[in-house]
Amino acid sequence: MKAGLAYCSLLILLMITDVWGQRRPKPKPVRPPTTKKPPAPKKPSSPDPKPEPQEPTDFPPPILGPPSEFPDCPRECFCPPSYPNALYCESRNLRKVPIIPARTHYLYLQNNYIDTVSAEPFNNCSDLKWINLGNNRIRSVQKQVFEKLPNLLYLYMERNELKEVPNDLPAGLEQLRLSHNQISKIPAGAFSKMEHLALLDMHQNRISDSSLGKNIFKDLKNLIQLNLAHNILRKMPTNIPNSIFQLFLDRNNIEEIPNDYFKDFANLAFVRLNYNQLSNKGIPKMVFNVSSLVDLQLAHNQLTTVPLFSSELEQLHLNHNSIESVNGTEICPSNSHNPHDEDGVPRLRYLRLDGNHLIPPVPLDVIMCFRHLHAVEI
Ligand SMILES: *[C@@H]1O[C@H](CO)[C@@H](O)[C@H](O)[C@H]1NC(C)=O
Ligand SMILES: *[C@@H]1O[C@H](CO)[C@@H](O)[C@H](O)[C@H]1NC(C)=O
Ligand SMILES: *[C@@H]1O[C@H](CO)[C@@H](O)[C@H](O)[C@H]1NC(C)=O
Repeated sequence: MKAGLAYCSLLILLMITDVWGQRRPKPKPVRPPTTKKPPAPKKPSSPDPKPEPQEPTDFPPPILGPPSEFPDCPRECFCPPSYPNALYCESRNLRKVPIIPARTHYLYLQNNYIDTVSAEPFNNCSDLKWINLGNNRIRSVQKQVFEKLPNLLYLYMERNELKEVPNDLPAGLEQLRLSHNQISKIPAGAFSKMEHLALLDMHQNRISDSSLGKNIFKDLKNLIQLNLAHNILRKMPTNIPNSIFQLFLDRNNIEEIPNDYFKDFANLAFVRLNYNQLSNKGIPKMVFNVSSLVDLQLAHNQLTTVPLFSSELEQLHLNHNSIESVNGTEICPSNSHNPHDEDGVPRLRYLRLDGNHLIPPVPLDVIMCFRHLHAVEI
């Protein structure tokens, strides 16, 4: 028993583990593109030391690409001879989208000064699968743009100045990234018929409860990751598709979770609610007793006790709350009482309790229950 105790105290160390490395097979969060993707463009080698220009008159002139063997290659872009389906126009001080050649499948336009996306440049490129428009100044996208892009799978528009989700997005999209904009409005039907959308990232915007219409996510039957972190939500979003695997809601103002909120999400494995306003009052006793959950993050809230969770949970982040004591007998998942039943041993491997009102060591009843625990920070 002495040796056991010594071993237990060894457990008190911090070990950051890779949550992906220890998953049992589960649906992948994103699917790879259906055709061979060219390599991503290189980052500019030296960062620009000058401050970002504010006025359009201050924008530096466009940088022209090297001469190309393709007669249709826009002068501002690079058309790699070995990847005729790729068009690299990123980081070239562009203010508008050049005419896109019909052969283009992968279009890189990030890090420019584009403020409006109009339809003409896309007249003849219905095979486009990928567009990266990240880090521009986009405020509006002409309605007709997406009519011309029926085969678009990935649309990246993070770090722009959008105030609402663009209308008439292609129904076949698989990934939509709109983080770091100023979105407060999501038109009704913005995501309608998007049955293939796997990833919807809208973190760091101005989305409030009233931005989310009741049925806004209804058609997203294959949604795997929803990221609404860093917005101004006060309530848990409703009507999230049952397919959800990762739900990220960090840095909102959420105070409570409705009873049975997670009940129908048979695939839900990752839930992040760090930096919210959750207190014990807002957490129904059984709400996290969900057997699909693998990683639960509730750091920087106002919890005073450890919530109950299922024996399948592997990682639990409760650091920076107001927890005063942990009773291992009370939190031990109830289907794991038989110590000889390996299957019933709770899978918890990693537990963070630092930044609470707890005094080490980790209580013995916690160690006795969670026998797979590799690391506890207290
Ligand atoms: C569109 O592309 C096709 C084939 O790539 C070409 O023959 C045609 O001239 C193009 N039309 C325009 C308006 O560029
Ligand atoms: C949690 O749910 C499981 C079944 O999913 C159930 O067997 C168990 O009793 C529940 N835990 C508690 C503490 O009620
Ligand atoms: C922990 O909870 C159990 C069951 O509620 C109780 O019997 C036990 O006394 C508690 N342990 C401590 C140290 O409070």
